[in-house]
Order: sequence, then C-alpha cells, then structure tokens
Amino acid sequence: TSGGSDAAKRRAGESAAEAVTDGDVVGLGTGSTAAHAIRRLGERADAGLDVRGVPTSFASRELAAEEGIPLLDLPDAVGPEGPGIDVAIDGADQVATGAAGDDPLSGGALIKGGGAAHAREKLVDAAADRFLVVADPSKESPRLDRSVPVEVLSAGRTAVAAAVRDAGGEPTLRRAERKDGPVVTDNGNLVTDCAFGEIADPAALSATLSAVPGVVEHGLFVGLADEVHVGTESGVRVDEV
Ligand code: A5P
Repeated sequence: TSGGSDAAKRRAGESAAEAVTDGDVVGLGTGSTAAHAIRRLGERADAGLDVRGVPTSFASRELAAEEGIPLLDLPDAVGPEGPGIDVAIDGADQVATGAAGDDPLSGGALIKGGGAAHAREKLVDAAADRFLVVADPSKESPRLDRSVPVEVLSAGRTAVAAAVRDAGGEPTLRRAERKDGPVVTDNGNLVTDCAFGEIADPAALSATLSAVPGVVEHGLFVGLADEVHVGTESGVRVDEV
C-alpha cells in the first residue's frame, strides 16, 4: 500500500517483534509491515518464546497459523475472564509526526484501513496495554492528508456518504479489483474512502465520523499509538508518542 521499501518495512516489523516478552498476548496487525513482525514472532515462538496472538484480520490469522503462533480470539482475550492483550503491533497508511506533547491533536495519529481491516485493528490496538506502530518513512507526514477509510453498513452507504459531504469530505465507495462490485470487509460491510484534504484536527474528525449512523468504524486512530518503529534503509528509529 505504499512506496516504502520492503527492507525498511522488515526492519520496523522485526524491531517491534523483538519488544515482545515471554508470556505476552500480542495483537497481530494487518498489512505487509505487520507481516514482517508476525514472521519474526513465529521464529521466536519456534525458538521457545511463550506467545499467543490475537489476529486483526483473515490475512493475519492465516499468516500467524502458518507461522505456528498459538491464536486467541479477541472476545476470549479481553474482558474479565481473558488474559488481556499486552502489546499490539500494527502498520499504518499514514503516521502524523511530532511528539504528542507538541501537538496533542495529531502527534502519533494514524490513518489505517488501506487493507479494509481497520475495524478489527482498532478493537485490538485499543485493547492492548501498548500499541507499537510499524512503518517506513514513506508513511510519515507532518499532517494527515490521505483519504480516511470508513467501514459502513451496506444499507447506510448513501446516508453516510451524504454525512461525509456535510463534514467537508468527498466519499468514494471502494471497488474490488478482481470482481465487478464493491470491496466487502471481513465483517461483511462496505468501505467508503473519504478525502478531506489536510486534516487539521484528527480528534475532532474522528468524533464526527464516529457519530454518523451506519458508520461501523473509521480509519482515524487518535491517541492510541504508544511507539512508532520506523524502519529506514540502515536501521530503525523508535519514537515514543
Ligand atoms: C489495513 O487495513 C491497514 O490498516 C494496514 O495496517 C495498512 O494498510 C498498512 O499496510 P502496509 O504495511 O502493507 O503498508
């Protein structure tokens, strides 16, 4: 979903996977960068690390199973009976740079959902004690300005589109590449990609979108990230947010 190099993505993913400790329950993100973390966790599990994964999508479940990582469903992981989620590792389509202290409205804010997995990603990433974002430098931007993916109930798609226009956005229903018709999420819903231009106040837009009937979840992740692991051509930078 980006122009970033695979080597940079791998460094980011592996750096976050190295932060997992014995006995952890780990949220397993979606996308090519998170996949590097899942593969490294698989290697560490082979080498004896006690770890259980909570997948965020069909794709991350499939990869984790191939890698031999024991899995736990989100409803069993969280709640009074569950072990909780110690750490989540997940990618992003765009990451707002700047320390949270400098700019509490956008430091570490994310746009996710390029793979239409953001609803379950947000559940898992928000439930985790720590959320580590994995990214390459092509994802970083001082201000968020990519389209915001919005998962919608099919019956609500035109009502949500009208509300998005009222909020100053331009909605586009996401179409499937190898099917005549829309993308259908792992949850059986549709996705509308909403262009707002530069997002001055991600927290305010997040609240606005969450309040629209028919919106299942949107791809603005504000105030959730704890660390951003940015892989470069030569190493990894870890930013606390
Ligand atoms: C999935 O819906 C997204 O939120 C992904 O986390 C995002 O698209 C990152 O993917 P890459 O790591 O492949 O860029």
